Amino acid sequence: MEQSLRGEIRYMMKKKNILIIFLALASVAFAATDSAIFGEDLIWNILAYDKEGSLHLGKWFTILQGKYFSMAYLAIVLGVPAVFLIHYLIIGPMIFSHDRKKIYVFTLFHRLIHWLAGISFIVLIPTGFVMVFGTFFGGGEFVRVCKELHAISTIFFAISVVPMLVMWFREMLPTSDDIKWLKILGGYLNKRKDPIPAGKFNAGQKMWFWICTVGGIFMIITGAIMFFQDFKLGIITWIGISQIDLLRASAIFHNVLGMAVAALFMTHIYMSVFAIKGAIHSILTGYKEEEEVEILHSTFYKELKEKKEV
Ligand code: HEM
Repeated sequence: MEQSLRGEIRYMMKKKNILIIFLALASVAFAATDSAIFGEDLIWNILAYDKEGSLHLGKWFTILQGKYFSMAYLAIVLGVPAVFLIHYLIIGPMIFSHDRKKIYVFTLFHRLIHWLAGISFIVLIPTGFVMVFGTFFGGGEFVRVCKELHAISTIFFAISVVPMLVMWFREMLPTSDDIKWLKILGGYLNKRKDPIPAGKFNAGQKMWFWICTVGGIFMIITGAIMFFQDFKLGIITWIGISQIDLLRASAIFHNVLGMAVAALFMTHIYMSVFAIKGAIHSILTGYKEEEEVEILHSTFYKELKEKKEV
């Protein structure tokens, strides 16, 4: 009996030793992979990521970047257009009369700033997707060129984002109409022409505005941190964040916010080009159809009527 107990203990000790050896080997292998991924010059930062005050993001970064981000982006790039295709086929576009008066809503300045942002996004979004699916595109020169184009178009977006934030700021503030609009999903689930509660901009447009301006500024900052990588900023060391964790936090934030930006950008295109027939003209000429304003922006229309502007 005593002998078998001793045998059992010896067996357990052996198992424990094997476990310790396994863990030691695993951590050496992990450290080796880490340095292989991030390069020798960053090794000190990697070692530092566990020091006091660091964000300990290494594990999260590896899990999210390794698998989940590309899966989420795949769901967005396939799912969002699929939902809109179904909407278009089942409900179809809203069509408003083009025979009534036209209402001037966007000045030349609004339109110029809008198109500066628009053109930069036409480059930013596809090149961003190419980078997410870099392995699928075979890496190499094509992905590298997309990375450069992504950086260059960011400059044009950065020029447009502050004027856009300022020029539409007041009209994009939330109002009680927004809750009513959200409850009926803007009336997009039927083709009835009931007046929709909204000012000059509805809740959906406001959501897009805040994501593309304030969110856009965060995208620029986090993107710049990843682009320049090896810069030194006193404040970072002062608040106790290691450089590698700043990069990891930026990559995670850029990817998560990028999903919202990409999904809402696709929504914006669908609404402007397909869901409301002829809506694109307003951001080209500055004028909207009176019936479109009367139905889709009924509060704004009432205000214009009170001011005798229609
Ligand atoms: C590139 C293709 C784009 C097209 C075809 C497009 C089209 C339009 C149209 C037609 C409007 C007027 C909508 C209305 O009031 O009925 C509009 C408004 C607006 N656009 Fe764009 N746009 C594009 C890109 C962008 C980008 C990249 C941004 C921002 C980064 C942006 C931000 C806005 C905002 C904030 C408004 C006002 C609110 C709204 O209508 O959603 N647009 N756009």
